[in-house]
Amino acid sequence: MAAPLSEQTVATIKATAPALQQHGVEITTRMYERLFRNEEVRAMFDQAAQDSGEQPRRLAAAILGYAQNVDKLQNLTGAVARMVQRHVDTGVKAEHYPLVAEALLPAIRDVLGAAATDDVLAAWGEAYWFLADILIGKETEAYAELEEA
Ligand code: HEM
Repeated sequence: MAAPLSEQTVATIKATAPALQQHGVEITTRMYERLFRNEEVRAMFDQAAQDSGEQPRRLAAAILGYAQNVDKLQNLTGAVARMVQRHVDTGVKAEHYPLVAEALLPAIRDVLGAAATDDVLAAWGEAYWFLADILIGKETEAYAELEEA
């Protein structure tokens, strides 16, 4: 399990929640533009859900929910279980997570502009990996269970 997030990181994440609420879909739309330069990753996604804007909305809602609950992760148990389920259905693996980080952080920087200071980006990098480690751990368990079944 990853080390808990520092108080400073939690404070920075919570402080940026309103900006994410305002720009969430823009950030995630831009994130997918970057992510989908990788054709193999692009093929994992349902294109209809992208084209309708449904998937960027879901991801924006997940990121916002995370920002608001970063110090009370028990509120996210159901949401995390659903993400794990979809990820296992679509074959998401640990090695994909750096690709999403490399797409998400520049997208936050692009959309927030001057508000995305080094501190803000560092806090989001840390928080991304905190959540990613939780998902990776649960997904690894789920794949192992599927193999046993
Ligand atoms: C911390 C990182 C991540 C978060 C917060 C996240 C969040 C989500 C959410 C909220 C959903 C929608 C679940 C639903 O149907 O309600 C989803 C689905 C999905 N995610 Fe992730 N995800 C992350 C990392 C990744 C990675 C690394 C990949 C691999 C490239 C990935 C690929 C997918 C795919 C393929 C789906 C299904 C989309 C579809 O139905 O077309 N995700 N994720």
